[in-house]
Amino acid sequence: MGLRSRIIGTGSYLPEKVLSNHDLESMLDTSDEWIRTRTGMSERRVAADDETSSTMGVEAARRALKDAGVKAKELDLILVATGTPDMLFPSTACIIQKEIGAVKAVGFDISAACSGFIYALSVADQYIKTGMYKKILVVGTDLLTRFLDWTDRSSCILFGDGAGAVILSAEDNGDKGILSTHIYSDGTYGGHLYLKGGGSSGRLSHEAIDSKENLLKMQGNATFKIAIRKMVEVVGEALAANGKVISDVDILVPHQANMRIIKAVGEGIGLPPEKVFVNIEKYGNTMAATIPIALDEAVKEGRLNRDDLLLLVAFGGGMTWGSALVSW
Ligand code: UT7
Repeated sequence: MGLRSRIIGTGSYLPEKVLSNHDLESMLDTSDEWIRTRTGMSERRVAADDETSSTMGVEAARRALKDAGVKAKELDLILVATGTPDMLFPSTACIIQKEIGAVKAVGFDISAACSGFIYALSVADQYIKTGMYKKILVVGTDLLTRFLDWTDRSSCILFGDGAGAVILSAEDNGDKGILSTHIYSDGTYGGHLYLKGGGSSGRLSHEAIDSKENLLKMQGNATFKIAIRKMVEVVGEALAANGKVISDVDILVPHQANMRIIKAVGEGIGLPPEKVFVNIEKYGNTMAATIPIALDEAVKEGRLNRDDLLLLVAFGGGMTWGSALVSW
């Protein structure tokens, strides 16, 4: 049967500061009612000035390590999924490696926006299956609130900050763990959702900043439609690859971008709402962090039992999408 990647610990971190829909009402032409009915969100978290993607990731990583009973120095690899790295380089993974004291681990970042955590799980799983690494830390961390146009009501209301992490361990001949991952990209739709930030496509001039070129841009409605179609497709692929049907799935932990997207995906794949884990009302869209934060909460709430079949699915900028099927 060979080697399998088992999730042996989870952890998450959310900044303390809460930004509610009512707070947004005083900043923009919007309403709590519109945001709740169109997105399912009530509030989101905002990082403090001294927090970064790495500081949030470090906290989530420490909690996951503790949960797994693994020491940082035992880690072989650190993968950090983020679209908002601390800097262009060094990687956020290297910063986290230093902070937690993972002296023997190699670290690198994975850029796949909201699908980043599933991409990182997929990469980690390949390293474990080949026998190259045994203990891997996978972090999803994003600090979007520093890159939002707070005058654009169609995008700024959607995002929040946070981090989540899991520890993967190589298990020999077990039937538990990651059964499959399927990941996809289509760069032709890259213009639907992007964040130039301080990237090399433009100089970070005063003019660029004044015209908000460095901030997140999104065509929400177009993204919405592709997201539903692609997530339904990639769930079907995960099930078929493992000889499973949707009624075998015990819990779906989807990317939390919009409650209407989550509902449409649930209906599209034929999974009843009680099997879908949702926490979007509290945190909004934390990009690469939504799935590991939700997974950590699902575990801590006792929603996952041994032998449960767990399905993860995401869609995001790139465009990128993917699914993972896990025997818990
Ligand atoms: O993480 C993965 C990537 N991201 C996503 O998957 C996000 C996908 N998109 C979405 O979640 C939705 O498209 C939004 C929530 C962003 C927008 O919802 P929508 O149903 O697609 O609305 P819309 O963009 O078609 O806009 C409908 C109306 C517009 O007014 P008019 O032109 O009909 O008069 C907007 O101006 O809603 C208006 N609107 C708002 N009204 C109050 C847009 N944002 C707001 C707002 N408050 N915050």
